[in-house]
Amino acid sequence: MNIGILGTGVVGRAIATRLVELGHSVALGTRDAANPIAQEWLATVGTFRGARVGTFAEAAGHAALVVNATAGAASIAALRLAGDRNLHGKVLVDIANPLDFSHGMPPSLSVVNTDSLAEQIQRSFPDAKVVKTLNTVNVNVMVHPERLPEDTTIFVAGDDAEAKATVADLLRAFGWRSIIDVGGIETARGLEMYLPLWVSLMSAQGTPAFNIKVVRS
Ligand SMILES: NC(=O)c1ccc[n+]([C@@H]2O[C@H](COP(=O)([O-])OP(=O)(O)OC[C@H]3O[C@@H](n4cnc5c(N)ncnc54)[C@H](OP(=O)(O)O)[C@@H]3O)[C@@H](O)[C@H]2O)c1
Repeated sequence: MNIGILGTGVVGRAIATRLVELGHSVALGTRDAANPIAQEWLATVGTFRGARVGTFAEAAGHAALVVNATAGAASIAALRLAGDRNLHGKVLVDIANPLDFSHGMPPSLSVVNTDSLAEQIQRSFPDAKVVKTLNTVNVNVMVHPERLPEDTTIFVAGDDAEAKATVADLLRAFGWRSIIDVGGIETARGLEMYLPLWVSLMSAQGTPAFNIKVVRS
């Protein structure tokens, strides 16, 4: 599949690399295609299956499925640079967390309770099919869940059932076995509001390499 990754941070590059390994044609998007981090990524993966670096608009334009891996505070701006036209009708996987570091650590959330970043994105780009996922785990767990000693749980939230099924297929390819569809895009509120607990768990355990598992009778 042609996939556009918006974001050159650790998450964007890890997802992009994993997707290249899985045989997808990946375009990594950034504000400036000369961005040395993005160029270094390209040098590492090579141009296998058409891997490339471009602007946010070029990456989204290349794609059937777009991944938002930009800083939460900048996600709407980054998606506007990607362009409404390039997101129209596409699955838009949202991994971003609306973290506010302006008051130091730990970060707070810039949107909570009655709204979420995922909903803001869905409202801003009504013709995209937003699916929130992977924001509840560290980047290394995202792309290699099997490196944890047992199966753990990942969530998807979004309004479009077909889009969620497409994303679940990608998650299974990453190695996820326990995937829970928590409901419509408004259920992304809970996925984003899990972050303060995630931060506390990381501090308590001294590692980001963990996840939760939903067990039921
Ligand atoms: N790190 C993790 O383990 C983890 C886990 C779960 C979720 N997340 C979430 O995943 C997302 C990515 O995290 P990250 O640590 O990889 O990267 P990040 O540093 O949060 O974001 C980097 C990306 O944001 C873009 N960006 C920053 N300011 C911008 C602006 N004003 N306008 C447009 N774009 C802007 C950058 O564009 P340029 O390429 O042009 O510089 C870059 O591509 C975040 O929302 C984070 O909360 C992270």
